Amino acid sequence: MREEQRRERKLRIPACSAPDFRSRRALRRRGGGGTSRRAARGRGSLSAAAMAQPRSASQPPPDVDTDDCLGEYRHLFSPDILAGRVAFITGGGSGIGFRIAEIFMRHGCRTAIAGRNQQRVAEASKKLVVATGQQCLPLSIDVRQPQTIVAAVDETLKQFKQIDILVNGAAGNFLCPASALSFNAFKTVMDIDTLGTFNTSKVLFEKYFRDHGGVIINITATLSYRGQALQVHAGSAKAAIDAMTRHLAVEWGPNNIRVNSLAPGPITGTEGFRRLGGKFAKDSKQFDTIPLQRAGNKTEIAHSALYLASPLSSYVTGTTLVVDGGSWLTSANSFSALLGIASSSAKL
Ligand SMILES: NC(=O)c1ccc[n+]([C@@H]2O[C@H](COP(=O)([O-])OP(=O)(O)OC[C@H]3O[C@@H](n4cnc5c(N)ncnc54)[C@H](OP(=O)(O)O)[C@@H]3O)[C@@H](O)[C@H]2O)c1
Repeated sequence: MREEQRRERKLRIPACSAPDFRSRRALRRRGGGGTSRRAARGRGSLSAAAMAQPRSASQPPPDVDTDDCLGEYRHLFSPDILAGRVAFITGGGSGIGFRIAEIFMRHGCRTAIAGRNQQRVAEASKKLVVATGQQCLPLSIDVRQPQTIVAAVDETLKQFKQIDILVNGAAGNFLCPASALSFNAFKTVMDIDTLGTFNTSKVLFEKYFRDHGGVIINITATLSYRGQALQVHAGSAKAAIDAMTRHLAVEWGPNNIRVNSLAPGPITGTEGFRRLGGKFAKDSKQFDTIPLQRAGNKTEIAHSALYLASPLSSYVTGTTLVVDGGSWLTSANSFSALLGIASSSAKL
């Protein structure tokens, strides 16, 4: 065998490479598996474990587009990484917040999921309990009204005796040019996203985190990074939350509270994606401009939230984890294209 070929084989299956779906036979046929029987046996056990592993480090995990639990789930993190923890998740009744609740619960966490629509959180909670076997408390709150948050946090503490993680996911959004945006529309988004995040964080701090420590994850967005057209309201609101993340990380660090933002890009199977023209963008091949060439899914956001909630990120605070496939770096910020999306989604 020529030296060059030998080197190439070595490169194909490095000792620590991410496992893939190829069968042992396929590996041998393609000359990718080394030469000795012992090596093949070793790979045999690796292949079995590798069967359900993502093919590459950028392949998305399976997901479902509806607000339902995953049909199948394979743990990539230790299944008990959040065992004994309790998470309070605003916006946990749908979309990204629902999937975060599910993934946390699949890792041993109990959850309280909170939103305005009691029926929605109640139904979501039932699904989550059935799929994960963990406890989930559905709560009705409006993050603009601190007294509703106080009542919900009290109820959670009564039920679970502790809260370790807060996910601020509640938000509202729509596409609208600044010139057509009413004063009230701008204020409403600021109220829900920015004030809602502050209100909930402050209640949690006073009721529990100040004395026990905790983790806060603020779900934000990349809209303000380049001044996304038609998004002055949401972009401003989320930028303020990113600032809040840094302020609170500094002030509350001595209380053993970590505060981070998680900024998703376009995420399939969400209200945000439907409303902000994700389907249109897909059809018009706009995702080709994203470095990873696709939208993300809810499980990918939940996995990033899991990292931020877990001891794996024990020294991470005051930062924003952008989970967008590189989108904000390269995607067009075209006013006319976005207007196309706005009018197209308005027809839906
Ligand atoms: N989807 C995306 O592509 C994307 C991209 C970037 C960032 N994000 C962010 O990810 C988060 C989840 O978005 P999503 O797309 O999954 O949308 P979603 O399903 O509409 O989630 C928003 C949640 O917030 C709750 N909510 C809204 N107003 C509230 C209020 N005043 N008080 C309490 N709860 C309230 C809603 O429940 P009720 O209506 O029952 O109150 C809903 O469950 C948001 O923070 C969003 O800005 C999403």
